[in-house]
Amino acid sequence: MPLVIAIDGPAASGKGTLARRLAQHYGLPHLDTGLLYRSVALTMLDAGFSLDDTDAAARAAETLIADRLADPRLRERAMGEAASRISSVPAVRAALLAWQRSFAGNAVGAVLDGRDIGTVICPDARVKLFVTASAEERARRRHLELTARGEDTTLAMILADVRARDERDANRSAAPLKAAEDAVILDTTELDAEAAFAAAKHVVDGAR
Ligand code: C5P
Repeated sequence: MPLVIAIDGPAASGKGTLARRLAQHYGLPHLDTGLLYRSVALTMLDAGFSLDDTDAAARAAETLIADRLADPRLRERAMGEAASRISSVPAVRAALLAWQRSFAGNAVGAVLDGRDIGTVICPDARVKLFVTASAEERARRRHLELTARGEDTTLAMILADVRARDERDANRSAAPLKAAEDAVILDTTELDAEAAFAAAKHVVDGAR
């Protein structure tokens, strides 16, 4: 039976790092689904469309090009903000749903991380984790990450971003961020990456 691991959680909760480590450990392909939304936003901005143009957003999602997912600009702070805005468009979510399901449906299984993987994309995933941490801790981590990449930001700016994104992601009507009823909640506020991995591995091994 393919092993599908669905990982959801708010921005900078540590779910990406955890997803990569689990994928490597279990030999599974990994999809960071935030990159799909970031890629739609980047395509629109490059083509000169306003992020409020929902038709253009839907077209960009329908014609998503896999090669674009490696563009380093996708990781920039502004792209996270832009992705969060277009991700509330139902037609964008519908177009990306098929893409994600086909990734998850391969023979061995897969690890997907995002906001609605356990609730909408892979409701039958064998393992569902909801990774969270306090907003202050998430802002601290994201600030370190962006600074290391050479972006000039302050902790206060990042904390404001994190809060604004939490608010938008949790309150949108299309697939809001929430833990699936059968998800295991993993609070990483006090855990480093190693401890979070050990806790998640324990959950996955128990479900195999
Ligand atoms: O995870 P990441 O920060 O890259 O996601 C960027 C934005 O894309 C999120 O703030 C969220 O609005 C959106 N997103 C989503 N559903 C997903 C993954 C990301 O709505 N599965």
